[in-house]
Amino acid sequence: MARTVCLIPGDGIGPEVAEAARMVIDASGAPIEWLTLPAGAAEAEAHGSVLPDHTVEAIAAHRIALKGPVTTPIGKGFKSVNVQLRMRLNLYAAVRPVRSLPGIKTRYEDVELVVIRENTEGLYSGIENEIVPGVVTSLKVATRVACERIAHYAFAYARSRGRRRVTVFHKANIMKMSDGLFLECARKIHQAEAPDIAYDEMIIDNGCMQLVRDPSKFDMLLLENLYGDVVSDLCAGLVGGLGVVPGSNIGDDCAVFEAVHGSAPDIAGKGIANPLALIMSGVMMLNHMEERACAERIRNAYNAVLGDGRPEELTGDIGGKGTTRGFAEAMVRRMT
Ligand code: NAI
Repeated sequence: MARTVCLIPGDGIGPEVAEAARMVIDASGAPIEWLTLPAGAAEAEAHGSVLPDHTVEAIAAHRIALKGPVTTPIGKGFKSVNVQLRMRLNLYAAVRPVRSLPGIKTRYEDVELVVIRENTEGLYSGIENEIVPGVVTSLKVATRVACERIAHYAFAYARSRGRRRVTVFHKANIMKMSDGLFLECARKIHQAEAPDIAYDEMIIDNGCMQLVRDPSKFDMLLLENLYGDVVSDLCAGLVGGLGVVPGSNIGDDCAVFEAVHGSAPDIAGKGIANPLALIMSGVMMLNHMEERACAERIRNAYNAVLGDGRPEELTGDIGGKGTTRGFAEAMVRRMT
């Protein structure tokens, strides 16, 4: 029986990559009925709301969504739709696997990392005030509940996937209380639930340096919200860029799958964005839905397209000269 999956095309390159992802997922034979829902800056211009209630309610009801990126204005304007969605649906764990891929040449050949990012608090709480003219504060929120919950998620994930090490990046030398609590909770959950899995901690500046020197030293990274956001993009750079790194936002009740990248206004509307990151997010979604054969079919297809390395089938960000649609069509050809 077909399952309803919410599809949010989003802004910028979102509709282009969402269409490509949908084409590939449908071609895999996945039993999905798509429910397309609005969100984002374009939606706000059309109907006045960046995140309509009915979009959030539909995701809560159907419990699963594939989402394109949405634009957030810089230095002014509405609160990020992504942050709102993650908070309203309590999607507390962002999971971002970062892997070396066939045919994509980078400085490293053996990257096999998973970034786990706390998704609901930290500086993304958006509590900012101008105390007096010219003095602004931004509040970093850390709660024991959320810090323990994400640590629990990370170690459970490590165990279920046979991972060997979890490394926490932090800045508890400076933010002694907030990052200190994050560390305290990670240590406690590690001891209580996964003492057999290796655990270590690094001050984030050193951690970033170690990552770019030798990513093979790392297995899983556990980070609070802002660090997770920044380090995810750094990790994408290790394996070929933002066009090739997928992600998911997981809560106890529902899950929203989306690429790490944004709406890429510089290339939006040109039909040249790489749809692979959203397609890979679709693979994560199919695995979550226990549609493993369809997920495997798609994975084999993109590995084949990448491995063949025909420039006309690949997008520009990974060295090709093809289009978004062309990449999706090449994948569909490998599946049939
Ligand atoms: P971005 O990820 O949109 O773009 C950064 C660079 O990567 C650009 O040069 C872009 O062309 C390239 N790029 C990104 N995705 C690509 C793809 N699939 N194929 C080929 N090239 C790709 O980040 P930026 O420019 O910092 O943010 C643009 C907007 O996106 C902002 O409004 C930001 O708030 C939003 N954003 C939304 C996210 C989401 O919805 N999950 C995540 C990150 C940013």
